[in-house]
Parts: sequence; structure tokens; C-alpha cells
Amino acid sequence: MSSARQQTWSAAGYDENARFVSDLGGEILRWLAPQPGERILDLGCGDGALTAKLIEAGADVVGVDASEQLLEAARQRGLDARLMDGEALTFDSEFDAVFSNAALHWMTQPQAVIDGVKRALKLGGRFVAEFGGHGNVSAIVTAMRSAAVVFKGEASLAGPWFYPTDADYAAMLEASGFTVRRAGLFYRPTPLKTGIEGWLMTFRKAFFEQYDVMARDAVVEHVVNLLRPTLQNARGEWLADYVRLRVDAVLPQP
Ligand code: BEZ
Repeated sequence: MSSARQQTWSAAGYDENARFVSDLGGEILRWLAPQPGERILDLGCGDGALTAKLIEAGADVVGVDASEQLLEAARQRGLDARLMDGEALTFDSEFDAVFSNAALHWMTQPQAVIDGVKRALKLGGRFVAEFGGHGNVSAIVTAMRSAAVVFKGEASLAGPWFYPTDADYAAMLEASGFTVRRAGLFYRPTPLKTGIEGWLMTFRKAFFEQYDVMARDAVVEHVVNLLRPTLQNARGEWLADYVRLRVDAVLPQP
């Protein structure tokens, strides 16, 4: 099991510390432009906040995620939300589009994901996704790596993600038979309403839990102090150093 899979989610914690993830999904929804009657797969649907928007647009949507806790929240919205590994999708030529927001960076076997997306799409179908791109949260990861050195921990727990460049990801898609229509990286400093500690405890709990409770506060303090000069603004607000990759690719008809 990869360390990304060891991530556990609490729907309430996600709602409190990570609601910005779906709130910032508007532009990638516009890239997708869901049409009434289309059948769409939402890959990594989480608690279904964006899946619900696809349904509002008139699409017939299946959401899949690896977290039973988040799926339960999605089902409470009345969604068809299924437990499935994004690296082993089991659909066959049934979707007009595969959509994904802020999920693909958790899947560290990207070729397996792309193969599954390709199998899931009808010919002519599109794959529209946004996720962390090259350089995403690099200050945060470096601060945790520093803590791992100082406090003698496992540094690889600091950053278990897949953050490709736009060129590398486009090349993977093209090599798999997709035509890439648009792909780009952009920097998006992201305000953290509950501060950097809320982010660290929501997304990188496994890193801090490697230390016993007595040491943990000092590790958190070390990370926060290193990050403060770069990620906290003059008003005391925290901004995560997010870099996003957006991609829009189509599976051509023969
Ligand atoms: C992201 O959306 O870029 C992200 C979320 C959680 C952890 C790391 C990155």
C-alpha cells in the first residue's frame, strides 16, 4: 500500500479545513462544460460537492473515491458514489467524459490511472482534470523534510504525491492515445482559513503521527516556524503554495 493510500479522511475535518478544494473547482467545471444527458465519471469525487454541480447541469454522474468516509458524505447528498481504486477503474466504454478535481496527485501510479480512464471512456470522450502540478506545495514539503532531519523521522512521509509538469503529463496522455487539447500549469496561492496547522493535520497527518505525542508539538512548531516567512502574509493569513495542472484531452474516434 502506498503512503498516499494510508491517508485517512474525516468528512467533518475535510469540510472544515479543505472546503476550498471544491470551492475553487469552478474553472475546471467550465473546461468540462457538462451537457444535459451526458454520462460522466467523477474520479476522486470526495464528498461530492462538485459531483452535485455536474448533476445540476443535467449530467448522469457516477462518483468514485477510495475513502469510504468521504463517500458516505457524498451519498448523503443523494449521489451515486462508489468505492473504487482510481488506479484500477473497472468501467468499460461507458462515459462521455471523465472529470477529476484535486485527486490525481494522490494516485502515484499515473499510467494505471490513464489506462483506466481510457477504458472507461467512449470513443470521442473527453478527460478533463485539475490536480497538483510540478512544484505544488514545495515549501510545505521542504519544511516537513527539514523536520524529518532534525527530529530523525521518515522524510518520504512528507510528500507522497504525483506532481508532473504539463509537458510530461501531456506526453503520457498522447502516448496512451489521447489528443491533448489544452494543458497548463499555474501558480495559485491558496488562502487557508484554518491556517497552516489545519492543512498539515488534514493532508499530512501521517507525517506527524510517526512521532510520539510528546515530540509532535515540537515537530509542528518547527514546520510552522520555517513556513511563516514565506507563506504567511502581512495580515497573518496563510496561503498554501499551490501549483495546479489543468488538462483537457480527448480520445479520438478511429
Ligand atoms: C492539492 O490539492 O494540491 C493538495 C491537496 C492535499 C495535499 C497536497 C496537495
